[in-house]
Amino acid sequence: MGLIASAQGLKTVEKARLAKGWARQASIWYGEAHVELPTLKRFLAGKVAVRQENFEAICKAVGVDWKQIVDWEKSGQNRVEDNSDIAQICLKEDCNEMHDVQIFYGREQELENLKQSILQNRSRVVTLCGQPGIGKTALAAKLAEEVKSDFEYFSWRSLNDSVAPSLLKLLSGLIKFLCSEEETDFPSDVDELIDKLLNIFSNHRVLLVLDGWENISRTQSMEGSQTDYEKYSKLLKRIAERKHKSCVVITTQEEPKELSSLQDTPCVKTRLKGLDFQASLKILNAKKLIFVPQQAEKLINDYNGNPLALNHICEHIQKVFAGNVSHYETKYTILFPLEFETAINKNCEFL
Ligand SMILES: Nc1ncnc2c1ncn2[C@@H]1O[C@H](COP(=O)(O)OP(=O)(O)OP(=O)(O)O)[C@@H](O)[C@H]1O
Ligand SMILES: [Mg+2]
Repeated sequence: MGLIASAQGLKTVEKARLAKGWARQASIWYGEAHVELPTLKRFLAGKVAVRQENFEAICKAVGVDWKQIVDWEKSGQNRVEDNSDIAQICLKEDCNEMHDVQIFYGREQELENLKQSILQNRSRVVTLCGQPGIGKTALAAKLAEEVKSDFEYFSWRSLNDSVAPSLLKLLSGLIKFLCSEEETDFPSDVDELIDKLLNIFSNHRVLLVLDGWENISRTQSMEGSQTDYEKYSKLLKRIAERKHKSCVVITTQEEPKELSSLQDTPCVKTRLKGLDFQASLKILNAKKLIFVPQQAEKLINDYNGNPLALNHICEHIQKVFAGNVSHYETKYTILFPLEFETAINKNCEFL
């Protein structure tokens, strides 16, 4: 059976909570009641029913007699809503920096495996590695869209700016987002912030995407200081080693070496290859190229199904040869835009 608290009952609960000195959504409260935060939020909203045993436990934790605060009339009319739609309502998102993934082809198997790692195997760190333009960011965004309803919080942080944010800046912003509005007292020391983040990761289910991890090591070495990079490494190691219920997804051109030494931790690493033939073909068709099947096959093989490279070459053929692959082939050279070629050369171990 599901129960809803009356308006008056919620006031009684509010008083009891304040007497205990607890925040409105204090982790100690739902921790003592052995329920998840979304359940406490539903209880406090007083709109949909909460399972009776959870209702009783939440009241007991705050020292209130549950029978005194039930709205029996409303409870009788309501179903228990413990499904993912409600979890979705409770999801708090911070993803201004996330890429929009309206066009996404293929990668069904990779997505399936990654979803299983996150939802069933509860992996704590998921790394997507691969050469520039292979589709790491796009896959991370698609994956996040598909699994985020299983989480209480979802945050996407891009490390791709010309200079990656200092860890202090990243953690301060992240922790402000993850803490309740009432909390204003945040540590200013990186190590304390890491401890705080890990505590939040233990008490809440947080999905964090760090996009472009390779930039941390690159900017740090450009500036001649390893300090912040070492701190980032320490953060990653602790997220992997410590037991918690959250998940960090990392996209990177270079494999983070701090993770290669971690065994017996629930971490997965996926090295992305190019898109398969069918998915690559969709790029050619979307760019309205004119070709016969063998020409498509050759073009896709030449660029190893790399979606960035395929997009570039398709645009080039469209612009210079009016989309006609035969005309392009008569002047055939493997054309890489200069910046892409430079990036590929730097990462030739992926090829
Ligand atoms: N599965 C896909 N279907 C269609 N387009 C894709 C797919 N994956 C990636 N793309 C497109 O290819 C381009 C490069 O993708 P993305 O930015 O994800 O690569 P990346 O591996 O993150 O590159 P970088 O290492 O430079 O960050 C983007 O324009 C993206 O929209
Ligand atoms: Mg990327």
